[in-house]
Amino acid sequence: MQLTWSHAVIYVHDEAIMLDFYTRVLGFQVTDRGPLADNAPDIIFLSQCATEHHQLAMVPVRQNTDASNSVNHFAFRVGEFTDLKLLHRRLGEMDGIQINPISHGNTLSLYFNDPEGNGLEVFWDTPWHVAQPQGEPWDISMNKEQALDWVKAQFGKEESFQLQADYYAQRHGDATT
Ligand SMILES: [Fe+2]
Repeated sequence: MQLTWSHAVIYVHDEAIMLDFYTRVLGFQVTDRGPLADNAPDIIFLSQCATEHHQLAMVPVRQNTDASNSVNHFAFRVGEFTDLKLLHRRLGEMDGIQINPISHGNTLSLYFNDPEGNGLEVFWDTPWHVAQPQGEPWDISMNKEQALDWVKAQFGKEESFQLQADYYAQRHGDATT
């Protein structure tokens, strides 16, 4: 048996604000919605993946308006370094969003909160693996080449530092032997 991650379902307080953030700012599409039972509020399904009905769903029944604290963060991968720049710009135009650029060596990440205080990470893979956990703030004004040079200078002396492809080939070998 292998479990492959598919989706998470979160309780939300303000459906309109949360849907606007997840669709307009983060780029999700609403793929379905409907009541879970007679006279119950809709569950709203969201996805950015053509082969996943929903990666995230919202149930707008949350009374409490305090920041959610059961989940540290959800993380999403982007395919291009410039996606981080675009997202950083969009988030910067919003009130009440704290943005923390952190690199784990194997990623260049943006950590931020959604409008109800749920933690989010959007990351771009570097070509490398390095042992975790660790993280260093990085300068979002760098271009891709500068950022990769910085990652290599910051993490490259560590014993575990290697190409991500080699690390995953090793993991794959361990899993199949
Ligand atoms: Fe993370």
